[in-house]
Amino acid sequence: MIFHKTNQLKGEVTVPGDKSISHRAVMLGSLSKGRTEITNFLQGADCLSTIDCFRRLGIEIENRPDCITIHGKGLDGLNAPGNILDAGNSGTTTRLISGILAAQPFETILTGDASIQKRPMLRIMEPLSMMGARIESIGGNNCAPLKITGAPLKGIHYYPKVISAQVKSAVLLAGLYAKDPTSVTESALSRNHSELMLRTFGADVRTEGTTATIFPRPLLEGRKVNVPGDISSAAYFIAAGLLVPGSDILIRNVGINPTRNGILKAAESMGGNITLLNERQEGEPVADLHIKYSPLHGTAIEGDIIPTLIDELPILAVMAASAEGTTVIRDAAELKVKESNRIDVMAQNLSAMGCDITGTEDGLIIHGKRPEEKPLHGAVIHAHGDHRIAMSFAVASLIAEGETNITDSECVAISYPGFYEDLKKLCRG
Ligand code: S3P
Repeated sequence: MIFHKTNQLKGEVTVPGDKSISHRAVMLGSLSKGRTEITNFLQGADCLSTIDCFRRLGIEIENRPDCITIHGKGLDGLNAPGNILDAGNSGTTTRLISGILAAQPFETILTGDASIQKRPMLRIMEPLSMMGARIESIGGNNCAPLKITGAPLKGIHYYPKVISAQVKSAVLLAGLYAKDPTSVTESALSRNHSELMLRTFGADVRTEGTTATIFPRPLLEGRKVNVPGDISSAAYFIAAGLLVPGSDILIRNVGINPTRNGILKAAESMGGNITLLNERQEGEPVADLHIKYSPLHGTAIEGDIIPTLIDELPILAVMAASAEGTTVIRDAAELKVKESNRIDVMAQNLSAMGCDITGTEDGLIIHGKRPEEKPLHGAVIHAHGDHRIAMSFAVASLIAEGETNITDSECVAISYPGFYEDLKKLCRG
């Protein structure tokens, strides 16, 4: 798909529901007794994979445009699937559902697309095995397809080597079924949507610092969940509004959970003009974001803030490319094992647009230039099937001279099917 420079962005946009929260709402609705109704659910391919998996496990799920209705059967209500479970492109589906399958009295084969079959699964295989499940990587490479043989589980106190909400959540979900309490202590806090939503559905989850503990076999009851807008999707509009001269936009209904809002802090540290309006609490904290064009400067992004903006690092790299001075991203080796190797793919594609950028072992060094001094230029961009790369470069194209061609642009359907239309509506000229 071909993209061009724009004069400015004006108007309002409402981003779709949060991907992480949508997944968790389907999972907990399925494990609860009775009816769960989810509104503002993200109808992206990843979350539809989660729905498909739970249908195959015997849960009746109605998917209407305005509401997902789940007829949950309680913690012991899943049935052995007749066939292989397919998580598609979704790491969250694969890792979180593994925690649930680890406790079931049946065996499941779980797989996904080519990208999922390359992503590391030892990080969940290890703790779930310690709890008593048998998890085998069928190809012997610690990746999917996985054969998961559920078993009665015991509680553990786990200290993950990587900071990952997916790992933490897999262990906590397994902990629902364990015979004693289960704890996870992280070296820095990853997103806490699982802890919040488990509590909403009636689980006893206690948190202290970076430790979360779940107490086993709660009575989970179906309920109504309204999913806030996804800050990871809003991030592309935040960047576009800050980067394109003269822009002034409003992004409505964005989740600003402190374990997710690192993009706001990083953008502000680069000189971004962002105002939070109408802050409110809807199970999760939510606000509208007012974004005004701002000349940006470089910054350092490292340490404990990394898990709070892990999915926003590609778009932050685009912002850094057009900021004055150097931006250094460190402590983000996890970027190498996302939907693509985001360190390599960002370095290649931003270089192709004329940016001075180097990939490191755990991040990127970006020598930015303000567009007045040296603008990016259009190029052929390979998104490597990675939705966040495609959306990042659609934003970069808005300030690049000449034509930008994103080859596999359709992959945005993973997390934001209407992204290009929504972006186009804001563009003036
Ligand atoms: C997610 C956690 C993050 C994030 C992913 C969604 C989640 O992954 O990158 O897009 O919903 O728990 P890790 O936990 O592997 O860092």
